Amino acid sequence: MNIYETILKRRTIRRFKKKKVPYEVLEKCVNAARLAPSAANLQPCEYMIVDEEDLLDEVFGTLQWAGYISDGSPPASQRPTAYIIVLINRDVKRKGFEHDVGMAVENIILTALEEEMGSCCFGAVDREELRKGLNIPKKYIIDLVIALGYPNESPVLEPFRDSVKYWKDKKGVLHVPKRKLKDILHRNVISPEHTSAI
Ligand SMILES: Cc1cc2nc3c(=O)[nH]c(=O)nc-3n(C[C@H](O)[C@H](O)[C@H](O)COP(=O)(O)O)c2cc1C
Repeated sequence: MNIYETILKRRTIRRFKKKKVPYEVLEKCVNAARLAPSAANLQPCEYMIVDEEDLLDEVFGTLQWAGYISDGSPPASQRPTAYIIVLINRDVKRKGFEHDVGMAVENIILTALEEEMGSCCFGAVDREELRKGLNIPKKYIIDLVIALGYPNESPVLEPFRDSVKYWKDKKGVLHVPKRKLKDILHRNVISPEHTSAI
């Protein structure tokens, strides 16, 4: 699969198989993140791999799953088998690191997918609880958490109609609306229909 095909195939995964992810694969994901573009090449991101059984529960308890649906959180048998926590080293940068994080995280997600792993990014994290649970020093900002594991669901893309909210059908399949290309692509000029006042 080439990069574009991988990108088309990617969907956020929130149901996982009970199969453990080899540590080497997680390390490979972090190596891909390490090599991402970085503003002024400051490289403020660091990464914490969590793959120990007890600690998995600790991380799981700090995450909010799929806010748009009622049964977003996976049952115990389908939880992630690893996490990568993206940390910002405050000694390197304290503000304006978000673009770095975005690029690094996409590298993690695509590398994971190439290794047949699914992932879900978490912005909705109880950071205080996570810091306590994993003894993360104050020197680090806890930015995103990425849940990883072998996928146990196959969400499908839907063309955007009137809502960005994903939904589950009667069979439990997740449907994810995406805005259409023609609605978000501008060539050389922004046409008048897009110039309404904010
Ligand atoms: C910065 C960021 C934060 C996110 N936070 C959460 C989260 O807290 N909980 C969750 O279940 N999904 C979270 N997601 C996943 C999004 O819900 C998901 O990407 C979106 O629904 C589109 O689905 P797709 O990734 O399959 O295209 C987050 C995604 C991003 C990029």
